[in-house]
This record gives sequence, structure tokens and C-alpha cells, in this order.
Amino acid sequence: MVSTAERVPAQLLFDLDRQDVEGRLSRVHKVCCPVDPMRRYWAGAEAVVTSAPQLATRLVQLGRLLEWSYGYRAPRHLGQRLSRRAPSAGGLYPTETFLLVDTGAAWRVLYYHFIHQAFFAVPGTNAAAVAADLGLRPGEAAVLLVSALWRTVQRYGVRGYRYCLLDAAHVGWNLASVAQRCGFAASAQTGGLTARAQESLGLEDGEALVLSMVLRPGAHEVSVPRPPRPKGLEHLLPPAAEDTPLLNPVLRRVDTFHGRTLGGDRATLPLSDPACWGPGTGLESWADDRYSAKNFRETSVPVALLERAAQAARDAVAADGASAAGIGVHLIAVRVEGAPVGVGTLTDEGRLVWSGGPEWPSEAMARRVGAACQNQSIAERSSFLLVLTAPWDDVLASGHAGYRPLVLACGFAGAALYREAVRLGLGTTTIGGFSDAAVAALLRDPALHPVAIQAFGVPELEAIKVDAAHVVWNSTPPELRRRQRWGRTP
Ligand SMILES: Cc1cc2nc3c(=O)[nH]c(=O)nc-3n(C[C@H](O)[C@H](O)[C@H](O)COP(=O)(O)O)c2cc1C
Repeated sequence: MVSTAERVPAQLLFDLDRQDVEGRLSRVHKVCCPVDPMRRYWAGAEAVVTSAPQLATRLVQLGRLLEWSYGYRAPRHLGQRLSRRAPSAGGLYPTETFLLVDTGAAWRVLYYHFIHQAFFAVPGTNAAAVAADLGLRPGEAAVLLVSALWRTVQRYGVRGYRYCLLDAAHVGWNLASVAQRCGFAASAQTGGLTARAQESLGLEDGEALVLSMVLRPGAHEVSVPRPPRPKGLEHLLPPAAEDTPLLNPVLRRVDTFHGRTLGGDRATLPLSDPACWGPGTGLESWADDRYSAKNFRETSVPVALLERAAQAARDAVAADGASAAGIGVHLIAVRVEGAPVGVGTLTDEGRLVWSGGPEWPSEAMARRVGAACQNQSIAERSSFLLVLTAPWDDVLASGHAGYRPLVLACGFAGAALYREAVRLGLGTTTIGGFSDAAVAALLRDPALHPVAIQAFGVPELEAIKVDAAHVVWNSTPPELRRRQRWGRTP
């Protein structure tokens, strides 16, 4: 008989297999049904107003931190729509933010609405129980990042869960970065979130508590500047919202997977990237210069830029404590002056090391990269890509509870890389749409699980972004699939 301990990795393999995507490009339609389960908090409700001066100041400060990290920003050029300060797969923005705050008299949970730019009360919560479950201390506050899963799952299927986690990590990293800049101490709690905390928070099916950002006022806290309010924000309010189809089997599968990731170690990760705040970096340029390239120009870039980006990825992985999770940074050079076309890594001493194997002409490598990334032209035309990976053995050993922190840690590194690209004068984008198996094959190591890709190159500013969203099953390496079938611990 197969024991429970043996079945857990088998279940994880089975689940992850269903999250993989195939290489073909399929165009998808823009999501036209606005799903807004959070409407229950703000529609017809009054924004929170408090007469307690200390709490009022606290809420203003925290609201502004949220705006700088995830708020709406004015279009960068004519004809562009309003965008947000954190990237999101498909621009679907599943991440919602709740604040757990110590009012002095009690813990309270508030929901922040980015169009109203205001907090709303969340009735029916057991805020003290959530604070206890998350191990919060008096005076601390936590921003709880909740994914409205259906927003992303309706377009990307079960793969959408990985995107939801990466999206939330971008918001969390931005928040930590801007909070530290304004004198707060910030850390990320990726594990230790429980089903009980979700319940105490009043979350419903299809809503997942994925990350908690703990904020502590510091001795050098400054007044957070008020972010500009872009024109036309109120037009984004949907006239009506569709209900999340809770019985949808794909949503059920994602919800169940998330449930299995809850619990685990309650350790917090300090997050910092002091380098992204150069002496002249103002809050506005920090928040608004980040963007995802729509396409690249198929141009070569000097190897020094690849080295700096790879170093930034390694620093981010180490600074975020993610190295403990065994995250590796792999390079794919497609068009880099001074480097061979091929795959490699960066040593601890900062040296690029290229794996042996057949030399590919640049165009052939570009085609292989494109094919592995759902034939996305943005991947094919990039200059180089950084792939964040974890060894399959580690992934399986840490089980579901380790999987969410792993993806979140890769998302934190991706967020740091967006800032690095601005510094390097390169365009970048996270690439979530890729076949795990095809990317592992490209890296010539089927024992690696690629979690996220960051592509770099010279941006083509007039391009239009194309979505690739075909989802398939069963691209786990055959050997792993055999183990999964027999339910044995690899
Ligand atoms: C998890 C994640 C996955 C993404 N995957 C892709 C992708 O596969 N291809 C792509 O071109 N862009 C991808 N993007 C970039 C988004 O399309 C982009 O963030 C969104 O359009 C918003 O634009 P902005 O980042 O410029 O604000 C991804 C972003 C995230 C956060």
C-alpha cells in the first residue's frame, strides 16, 4: 500500500503537470465579463473615516504605500490605457489588498479599493484570529494579498495559479521596497498562511490568501508623498459585475491546489533592493518608469548588460532568502555581443559559465526559445533571458507547502529585475507562458523545474502585445510521470 508521505509528491507532480502549457500560440479574446467578488465590500458602502488622529495618519500612510506599489498610473503616451504600478499576466490584476491593522484598541481588517483610493470596512471577520495565526505583534500592520483566482484562471486555466502568485509577489516586492524607502521595516510572510486565517478573513471559495506583507513603523518613518490621481479612474468602475462561477472544475482544481499549499513554516523573508534606489531616484520615476516591453527589436546587446542583469537576479534571489529554496538563475543568450549563443549560469564570483553542447546559430536559438515560450515573438526577438529554476527533487521534497513560497520568491526576483532593466536602459518582461518541459530541455537539464522567465532586449515601442494562452496537460518528463503514476517518492 502507498503511504500518505509517498503520495504527497505524487499529488504535487500530478497537480503541476496540469499547470504546464504547450508551445503553440493561441490568440485569446480579452476578458469581457468583469468578475469583481470584492464589490461586496465597496458597492454602496462608505469609505472608512476615523476620528482617531493616530489611526487616521496611519491609514493615510499605508494607503499611499499601496498606491505607489499597485495603484493606477496615467498613460505613458497618447492612446495608451491606464496601467498599474505592478505587472500582471494578461493585465488581469487578480491581486486584491487587505490591511490588517492594530487600531490601538483592537485588530481590524480593511479592504483597499484602488479606484476609490480608499479603505472600506470588511464586516464579519475575526481580525484578532488572523493576527494571531500570522503571528503579528502589537503595533505591526500586515497587507494581506488575496488573489481573486477566477480573473486569471478564466483565461489561463490551471496555469493561472502560478501567474496569480507571481502577480502577488510583484505587488509585495513593490510594497516592501517603497515602504523601506519611507522608513518602514518590511518583510514577506510566504508560509504560515492557514485555511483558518482565510476563513477568519471572510474569504469565499475562489479567493486565496497568498502572501502577507508585514510592515513595522521605523524610527525614520517619513510622510509618504501623495501619489497623483490619474484622470478617468472612475470610468474603470464596471457598471455590473459577473459572479465567479464557483462550480467551474478548473477553478475547483486551482482552489484545491491552493488549499494544499496552506500552512508550512511561518518564517518571514526580509526583502530589500537598496540598489534600485539610486541617489537621484524619485518615488515617481521609481513607480512609473517600470513597464513590460511589448516586443523587442532582435538587436544584440553588450555582454556587460547580461552580466549585470544576471548579477541582479542572483542578488535578488540571495537577498530574498530564496537561495534557501534552491532557486537557480540560468541564462539563455540569443543575441549578446561578446558571449556565445547558448545557455549558462553565473558563478558565485560573478563569472559567466556556458554549458557545453552544440553551438546554435542565433536564429536557430531564437526559434527554439520562441517555440518553448508558446511561440511568443517577444521571446524569440529578445536578446537574452534569465530563467529562475528549482531542482525537481527540492520541489517535490518541499511539497505543496513549499511550492507557493518558491513561486513567490521567483516573483520577488522578477520584480527586482524590472527595476534593474530600467537602470540598464533595457526593455524587459516577465514571461509566464512557456512549456516547463521545453524550457528544461533548452537548459539541457530535465531535473530542473523552470518557474519564471524574465526576457530582456531593446524594446520595440510601437509593438502590440499578443497573448498566448493555450493550456495543455501532460508535459512532465516521462520519468517523473512514471513515478507519479506509481505514487512513489522520487
Ligand atoms: C506572471 C506574469 C506573466 C506574464 N507573462 C507574460 C508573457 O508570457 N508574455 C508577455 O509578453 N508578457 C507577459 N507578462 C507581462 C504582462 O503582459 C504585463 O505585465 C501587462 O500587460 C501589464 O503591463 P505593464 O507590466 O507594462 O504594466 C507577464 C506578467 C506577469 C506578472
